[in-house]
Amino acid sequence: ALAAQDATTMPRAEGAPDGGRRYRRAVVMTMGALHDGHLALVAEAKRLAEVVVVTIFVNPLQFGPAEDLARYPRDLDGDLRLLAGPGLLGPSDVVFAPTVDVVYPDGDPTVRVGAGALGDVLEGASRPGHLDGVLTVVLKLLHLTQPDVAVFGAKDAQQLAAVRRMVHDLDVRVDVVAHPTVREDDGLARSSRNAYLAADERARARALAAALDAGAAAADDGAGPAGVLAAARSVLDARLTPDDAVDYVALVDPATFADAGPGTERALLLLAVRVGATRLIDNATVVLR
Ligand code: PAJ
Repeated sequence: ALAAQDATTMPRAEGAPDGGRRYRRAVVMTMGALHDGHLALVAEAKRLAEVVVVTIFVNPLQFGPAEDLARYPRDLDGDLRLLAGPGLLGPSDVVFAPTVDVVYPDGDPTVRVGAGALGDVLEGASRPGHLDGVLTVVLKLLHLTQPDVAVFGAKDAQQLAAVRRMVHDLDVRVDVVAHPTVREDDGLARSSRNAYLAADERARARALAAALDAGAAAADDGAGPAGVLAAARSVLDARLTPDDAVDYVALVDPATFADAGPGTERALLLLAVRVGATRLIDNATVVLR
């Protein structure tokens, strides 16, 4: 079964004097080039808190030397227009869009946050240092914006797990709320990188969601971890071309990212696939019986 993904955990206090908002200040951290996925996080933050801070910052520290930092899409004016849309930011909310020298005035920081074992597997194995760079900027942005709650997308499951782990391990005073992955009509997870896909690649990108569905269906039919992985991989093998490459297909414990074993009940099925030149990730919660 494809379970609802670890969505908002806070019950709403409907009818409370503050309109049901449980927090004073929420933050949604982004790298801009905003799409419906980001905006869903902002709408959730608006429901949770009286004041919402959206950060827009393309963080150099989380890009590898061969990655797309320079060509990462940037459109601050467009982002601000989207953030002013219905149900989103109002007069009391804040957009914090600092330049690199504001966040890193002395150049790359000497002291950084390490993701530990969580930073070595899957995304960490493919992108060494990536999660350390993410956690370092997330901690800095938490300090700079002082929120009571921070909303992150389930789309980046390993990032979410690492942020939760950092908050736990380093006693950071913030609640972390996860928002389910927002998808296109055909199932493709919304991503700024989808804009890089040519029409034929866009069609093949549908393979990721189809592979997740196949893995979940296999679990429903009683398959164990190996069967779930095989079901997902066979969909990718059937739909992708030699221009594409599967980086990983994995089934892990959602908190530790250790491989799911015979005792695992809820597991994360995770995919990273290069479609043409564009690397896409996706995941779903799978219930094993
Ligand atoms: P970015 O890729 O811009 O994503 C910002 C937030 O939006 C993350 O929490 C991400 O998980 C969420 N998000 C992106 N696409 C989504 C989708 N389709 N559905 C639901 N949520 C989605 O993630 C980052 O930026 C950076 O690493 C950051 C945390 C800002 C640190 O630099």
